[in-house]
Amino acid sequence: MEGRSLLISDVDNTLLGDDAALARLAEWLESARPGLRLVYSSGRFVDSVLESVRESLLPMPDAISGGVGTELRRLPEDSPFAGWYERFDGWDAGAVRGALAELPELAPQPAVLQSAWKVSYYAYDASGDLLRAVAKRLEEAGCKSRVIYSSRRDLDVLPAAAGKGEAARFLAEVWGFSREQVMVAGDSGNDLAMFEQGFRGIVVGNAHEELKSLAGDGVFHAEGEYAAGVLEGLSHWRGDKVKASK
Ligand code: GLC
Ligand code: MG
Repeated sequence: MEGRSLLISDVDNTLLGDDAALARLAEWLESARPGLRLVYSSGRFVDSVLESVRESLLPMPDAISGGVGTELRRLPEDSPFAGWYERFDGWDAGAVRGALAELPELAPQPAVLQSAWKVSYYAYDASGDLLRAVAKRLEEAGCKSRVIYSSRRDLDVLPAAAGKGEAARFLAEVWGFSREQVMVAGDSGNDLAMFEQGFRGIVVGNAHEELKSLAGDGVFHAEGEYAAGVLEGLSHWRGDKVKASK
């Protein structure tokens, strides 16, 4: 992979989880930028990810997508991207909550994890039947939504035009990167959509089965865990330019 490239990575259990490995990755990233643009994409909201940037070795990225691909902010100036939030016009979080209120298997996540564009529940070991019931109720209520189930626990309902895959594609288009120039990294179900855009994928060694089962030429399964797995993936996709060893 020559020339400029874009790395869009999940944060928790992908970049964070092994401080020593993150230190090696941060050092490499510093030498690779500005030829490489860096984006964090998290289930947490942007403010919470920025806190992690302040408190850890995570470098300041060029943008953060938060709340499972609902928020998008350009950094370090912390400004919005024109055209992003307009995509969610007409989506009504209250209507989603109403449509799903009578499913006892869904326990709403705390209020600080909810927004106008993200309605999240805990649903431990959700069955296929439950996920189908969720989709059916949303459809009947006319809520055009994307439902994402991760880590056998978290169930997020977002506008159909949101999600980590949509955010990644939006950024690649706005910044003019071809699919081959974009690498995405993750460990769990809410990252799956990033792997469905024709980008180059990196699944870290500690990933959940949700991603471990991904197949195809566009997906690299690292042996290394957390940031060490990301480095291994960068080395795979960029050839000999990254030294992934300790
Ligand atoms: C993060 C969010 C949570 C979400 C989960 C999976 O943990 O805080 O709300 O359900 O990611 O996307
Ligand atoms: Mg994660």
